[in-house]
Amino acid sequence: MTGAEQREHARWLVSESRAIAVLTGAGVSAESGVPTFRGAGGLWRGRSAMDLATPEAFRRDPSEVWEFYHARLMGLRDVAPNEGHRALAVLEASRERFWLLTQNVDGLHRQAGSANVIELHGTIRTARCSRCARSLPISEALRGWTPGAVPACETCSAPMRPDVVWFGETLPEPALRQAEEAITHCDLMLVAGTSGVVQPAAAFAFHARARGARVIEVNPEETPISAIADVSLRGPSAHELPELLGEQERARLNPHTEDD
Ligand code: OAD
Repeated sequence: MTGAEQREHARWLVSESRAIAVLTGAGVSAESGVPTFRGAGGLWRGRSAMDLATPEAFRRDPSEVWEFYHARLMGLRDVAPNEGHRALAVLEASRERFWLLTQNVDGLHRQAGSANVIELHGTIRTARCSRCARSLPISEALRGWTPGAVPACETCSAPMRPDVVWFGETLPEPALRQAEEAITHCDLMLVAGTSGVVQPAAAFAFHARARGARVIEVNPEETPISAIADVSLRGPSAHELPELLGEQERARLNPHTEDD
């Protein structure tokens, strides 16, 4: 199939589906200017995020981990959702059932208007105590913060941590439950912007496929998910995701185009 035929086929699969599960990764935010983990720009002070986003790194040097997350947070200050995020929000509005499973912690899906967002790896927008249940907006935890400092819990004095899932940690139980529901009930799984190598998210498309769902992948690069995808669209998600919308949905994505 040519690229145009693939796109046409994918659009047809989307139009036929009633229950869509979407799995997104860092690539979906790339066009918003957020660096991916395994791509160029994924290093911080020469270190990989995979070295710093771990419980061991936090135990060893919590202040360094906070510096890393502070830098990521600062990087998100002027960042806005792109057409890919917006296309997914439009798609949700016209489906009976829709789940957006994201590995991203940047909050851009909600900002774009998506409602049923399941943040598999947590969110960088809140901080929580590493010991008790206290949690609060990260901006409050970092009020008056200076490099080298570690915010302390006001309730129990233990170090606060970003409310994200680190390597080696299990995903939050509610997120896993919702992912299971999505995998069980979707008739289409749309996977966009993920390298498909971090478990358990990487396995979701395989499970959905085994239950009979169609799979569409959007990624400029081949990934392990490509092998089971009905269609792989090899372009950036900010371009490819809007292309999957029907005519009426597109009008909602660009409400002013016809008047211009
Ligand atoms: P990665 O950085 O591993 O992969 C990003 C993927 O996006 C790659 O497959 C790229 O080819 C693709 N990509 C790049 N630009 C794109 C674009 N414009 N449009 C579409 N795709 C594009 O990020 P994730 O797969 O999200 O976990 O990584 C998964 C998890 O590993 C992250 O959530 C994080 C990380 O370490 C934790 O921190 C626990």
